[in-house]
Amino acid sequence: MQKIIVQNSGIVTLKRIIDERDGALCIMEARRDIPFDIKRVYYINNLEHQSSIRGKHAHKTLRQVIFCINGSFMLSLDDGTNRQDVLMWKDNEGVILGPCLWHTMHSFSSGCVLLVAASDYYDESDYIRNYDAFLQYVKGTK
Ligand code: TYD
Repeated sequence: MQKIIVQNSGIVTLKRIIDERDGALCIMEARRDIPFDIKRVYYINNLEHQSSIRGKHAHKTLRQVIFCINGSFMLSLDDGTNRQDVLMWKDNEGVILGPCLWHTMHSFSSGCVLLVAASDYYDESDYIRNYDAFLQYVKGTK
């Protein structure tokens, strides 16, 4: 995967055990591979429409690591200053979505499956869903 240049992000590489005919096994352990205790895991599938788009928000405090465990998609990251597109296609390479990072997932291949490990339970009040509000929030944290 390419180098991550945005703030509050990074790459997580999981151990991947390959048994040629019997598939691949990837393992994530909290505080070892994932840099926090995992309180929630969710996955996204059935992305059958070429125009599907997910994300389009940032979080105030939540930390997450996003994986593409099948197929591929484009992850667009924006920390308020820098923007970056990351092509996600390796099942054992995740990207950290730290706080204050506007993220959008799009350009899904057929059969694409996303998996996300999160540091906390779902809390709508932790979301920033308006881009201008996000820019204001980032300014306020600096
Ligand atoms: P959202 O986080 O906006 O999805 P994405 O970033 O993948 O596009 O969530 C979509 C809807 O699902 C929204 O109504 C909130 C709900 N939701 C939960 O109830 N619990 C969760 O853990 C998540 C991630 C979403």
